[in-house]
Amino acid sequence: KKVVLAYSGGLDTSIILKWLQDTYNCEVVTFTADIGQGEEVEPARKKAELLGIKEIFIDDLREEFVRDYVFPMFRANAVYEGVYLLGTSIARPLIAKRQIEIAREVGADAVSHGATGKGNDQVRFELGYYGLQPDIKVIAPWREWDLNSRTKLIEYAQHHQIPVPKDKFGEAPYSMDANLLHISYEGKALEDPWSEYEESMFLRTIAPEAAPDTPTYIEIEYEKGDPVKLDGKKLSPADMLTALNDLAGKNGIGRLDLVENRFVGMKSRGVYETPGGTIMLTAHRAMESITLDRNAGHLKDELMPRYAELIYNGFWWSPERAALQALIDSTQENVSGVVRLKLYKGNVIVVGRKSDVSLYSEEHVTFEEDEVYDQRDAEGFIKLNALRLRMAAVKPDMGHVG
Ligand code: ARG
Ligand code: SIN
Repeated sequence: KKVVLAYSGGLDTSIILKWLQDTYNCEVVTFTADIGQGEEVEPARKKAELLGIKEIFIDDLREEFVRDYVFPMFRANAVYEGVYLLGTSIARPLIAKRQIEIAREVGADAVSHGATGKGNDQVRFELGYYGLQPDIKVIAPWREWDLNSRTKLIEYAQHHQIPVPKDKFGEAPYSMDANLLHISYEGKALEDPWSEYEESMFLRTIAPEAAPDTPTYIEIEYEKGDPVKLDGKKLSPADMLTALNDLAGKNGIGRLDLVENRFVGMKSRGVYETPGGTIMLTAHRAMESITLDRNAGHLKDELMPRYAELIYNGFWWSPERAALQALIDSTQENVSGVVRLKLYKGNVIVVGRKSDVSLYSEEHVTFEEDEVYDQRDAEGFIKLNALRLRMAAVKPDMGHVG
């Protein structure tokens, strides 16, 4: 009996590690990924060793994360419930995939994670596991043990000599999740949706009111829907997101305070930082605005909420996500060019866009005289469109609105 645990090295998963050993008497293999959470991953090796772990996997997945998960998602302009940029949701499928690969490699029959029984993450991890390895056994300690509150958890840790970190407020920390795309904060005072977040909580952004009084101008070059150059410099996907995080963070961009609907049914209040992602969403839309056909773009916009919901609900590894992705990717063939942006006190302002394959025609749209468009064509266009409105208007009982 062997189980592969998604191990962060933090309090919760350290307790889980110990609990798995005690409860299942099984061999635990730990897997720790660097997905840009901004914390060293090597300390997780030391902690795992101290807890008697022999097989320890530590992977740098930053490039894969941004290239194969974040960028494809941003091609869709995916946003859940109008605001959430899916920062946690998009990392789970990658972690699930790697965990299953490791399970195969070491001959483990089970996998385990530290998500609670109340949230979205359990669903995302486990749909991933089952979708990639149908006969895998899943151990979800939070749904099995009786340590079902933070207070009991901390008592268990203290009892087993597992150190309990205190945050800068000298209390148990927020429930946080971090990767290169975002950091989430939930719990504690945030559980009251009327209570404003504490300024000192944020790790990646300064407040908009503390941001510089002079704007920062940047240029992002896109190739087939993905950002490839920043101010003329070619950057790898992870380096691009890292650089954008930095620029946005300094300008107070990317904070979000929301109440969202979890897949399991309850509403939940979260505060998120998505600095670079906030720039990417605006920039990508601006790039599409001159390179994407109107109806292809509108179709994408209609499908986007479905696509975002699939990712939120954990269905990355589903046939319908693959189908939608193929459609989205096919629209990005010509989404190439440069977007110029002004970053200023929490705002991402588009000030210019250009492309070698632009569909924008100054010749057609000009308010000056032109040679390509016959204004008289518009008369028939309007008249035929008006036909049914006029027919209805003469019969007041047939949908007349006036
Ligand atoms: N509510 C967000 C989501 O469902 C963030 C979840 C954060 N997860 C965590 N383990 N702290 O995507
Ligand atoms: C958790 O329950 O583990 C975090 C929140 C969520 O998954 O939605």
